[in-house]
Amino acid sequence: MKVLVVGGGGREHALCWALSGSSMLTRLWCAPGNAGIAEVADCVAIGAEDIPGLVAFATEKAVDLVVVGPEAPLTLGLADACVAAGLRCFGPSAAAARLEGSKTFTKQVADAAGVPTAAWARFTDPVAARAHIRTQGAPIVVKADGLAAGKGVVVAATLEQAEAAIADIMEDRVHGAAGAAVVIEECLVGQEVSFFALCDGDAALALGAAQDHKRVGDGDTGPNTGGMGAYSPPPVFTPALHDQVMTEVIRPTLAEMARRGTPFRGVLFAGLMITATGPKLIEFNVRFGDPECQALMLRLRSDLLAALLAACDGELADFDLRWDPRPSLVVVMAANGYPGAYAKGTEIRGLDRAAAVPGVQVFHAGTVRRADGGVLANGGRVLGIAATAATVQAARDAAYAAVDAIDWPEGFCRRDIAHLAL
Ligand code: AMP
Ligand code: GLY
Repeated sequence: MKVLVVGGGGREHALCWALSGSSMLTRLWCAPGNAGIAEVADCVAIGAEDIPGLVAFATEKAVDLVVVGPEAPLTLGLADACVAAGLRCFGPSAAAARLEGSKTFTKQVADAAGVPTAAWARFTDPVAARAHIRTQGAPIVVKADGLAAGKGVVVAATLEQAEAAIADIMEDRVHGAAGAAVVIEECLVGQEVSFFALCDGDAALALGAAQDHKRVGDGDTGPNTGGMGAYSPPPVFTPALHDQVMTEVIRPTLAEMARRGTPFRGVLFAGLMITATGPKLIEFNVRFGDPECQALMLRLRSDLLAALLAACDGELADFDLRWDPRPSLVVVMAANGYPGAYAKGTEIRGLDRAAAVPGVQVFHAGTVRRADGGVLANGGRVLGIAATAATVQAARDAAYAAVDAIDWPEGFCRRDIAHLAL
């Protein structure tokens, strides 16, 4: 099997690493990839959003499977373009990817499918939005309706903060056209869990759960990021909750998407709040989480390629996956300044020493290799230091021992990953 992975972050490194262990694999490319991915795949200089370029490459190489990491190419129709060109693609159609692209669409699907979620209302008029906020009271959540690079959500503790969010999103358009409408939601309280299911349009196969750390600082402080670390499985997510989420969230959503004529194939990522009255859906994403994927791939014992093919071919109902019961964890190392402005091009040393720590796997995110072999930072989130061990504490000790082996003064990480599990 010849496989092309699309993307160039830590998630795609973990996917390439897992795929490279498949007995069915003969050739692996990644577009555009990064310095770490280049150790397990051939990187090709095609951007992840260059749909015609990707389809032309996959056609020329007679690729058997295209695996799409990020959401942007999916919302741009990469899966549709592949299918039209006779290529097999793992990832939803643009129509099904609206589950991530539009918050209103997600809420409508959730309501139609009876999925438990926060009460909500949508507004295109800022005056009406403010009036609604005043009748509901704080805390309350204000979201830009469109894609806003994960930054369009304000969890407002006070009415003033909520009204300021309306001004920013709708009037000042700080997220551009994504702010033409807002969704205003009831504020849910509890622990957040990221839940993943492989879907073939009809059947779903659970991939399990992880907990992300979205704030930049220890103790969950500071601004939101793409994710500063993750671990799997989260103790809060009991087997009973797992079954409840499959029954109340994942399967009804698949059925509703199929009923609408836009069946969902790919990874359905449910962002959940585990509230006092049960799990509630916060949002859907249509892809693996980053860095959750890195933690999950360390625990996967089965052949990832076989599973992705089964999802593409509508054969998940008869499929099973084996998982390492031991916990895994990933610590993200980011460039100083992230999620604000940061420098690129700083040199990272000691990666081999880090990778030699028992149980550790080093995943690259924003890195490039210099002609002389040196590895340079090339993004905000730069590395994911992942580990598995018998206990969460042991996995965490191993990951931080590897972090401490890395010589990169221009980078930082959180020191408390998996604190909820300890
Ligand atoms: P989203 O972009 O929808 O993932 O939201 C970003 C973050 O905002 C989530 O990870 C939650 O921490 C928080 N959030 C979103 N919606 C709600 C809600 N209804 N209640 C409480 N927190 C929320
Ligand atoms: N780590 C959260 C996400 O990938 O959206």
